[in-house]
Amino acid sequence: MADKDDVRLGKHFFEDIPSKNEAFFLKGAGALDWGMQNRLSRIFNPETGKTVMLAFDHGYFQGPTTGIERLDLNIAPLIPYSDVLMCTRGALRSSISPTVCKPIVLRASAGQSILSELSNELIAIDIQDAIRLDASALAAQVYIGAEYEHKSIGNVTKLIDMGSKYGIPTLAVTGVGEKMSRDQRYFGLATRICAEIGAHYVKSYYFEPGFEKVVAACPVPIVIAGGKKLPEKKALEMAYKAIDQGAAGVDMGRNIFQSDCPVGMIQAVGAVVHNSVKPDKAIKIYEEIKVQEKT
Ligand code: 5RP
Repeated sequence: MADKDDVRLGKHFFEDIPSKNEAFFLKGAGALDWGMQNRLSRIFNPETGKTVMLAFDHGYFQGPTTGIERLDLNIAPLIPYSDVLMCTRGALRSSISPTVCKPIVLRASAGQSILSELSNELIAIDIQDAIRLDASALAAQVYIGAEYEHKSIGNVTKLIDMGSKYGIPTLAVTGVGEKMSRDQRYFGLATRICAEIGAHYVKSYYFEPGFEKVVAACPVPIVIAGGKKLPEKKALEMAYKAIDQGAAGVDMGRNIFQSDCPVGMIQAVGAVVHNSVKPDKAIKIYEEIKVQEKT
């Protein structure tokens, strides 16, 4: 119960110490509301400004993808080493323990499969459910140049508006249809459109040359997708180059969960992303953990 007993006059006002008014650490996010900045600070480590998002949302259009046939068994060992889990609400509710306290980036689109036109997506969650799941961000594809370009931009725009009402940021994923080229011109166009419609951060693929120019022209952070499975060293080199050229992290799936040592690979990727460990050294992290697992 509130009471009025023992109310004393304050004594310590530290008049000589000015109040801090620090700039927010994340590119393009300085003018956002506290809730948005707080959720972005769960996703991006405020110490390094970077993130290792573990993407395992592939099933929403690919079904039981190699490496994540059993979400309950495949993902749990990786959770301690990831900064963020990116998945569908179905995967989250069915296969991830609610005692896990990692931020969630919710796949918020669906509506197609590998058997149909990939760009024909719709918004597949309402904002109340995202709030119930305590989502730290919503994510959906923008398919520039694809058959349903207009619809996909509309989806992401709606998510940004829905999320903005409740302080939930949106990650726009630059989807590449089969016919899209993967070069500076394409990703420069796609990432800039995502930022200009209001996405709080953007996912792109890594490409050369010109990745650093695309990062420079995008006013919000860019994280890279891993893409198809590469040999571990090559995947670490790709992550290193992306970070070196200004990426704010990775949103990686197959190159982690399809590795022959996913727990080693995610730790090696983490070392590259947060500590700028060079690929030659990072591969040793993966190899050592792989050996330990076998003994
Ligand atoms: C699927 C996605 C994936 O989350 C994204 O592509 C990351 O996974 P990967 O590293 O396997 O490419 O957005 O549409």
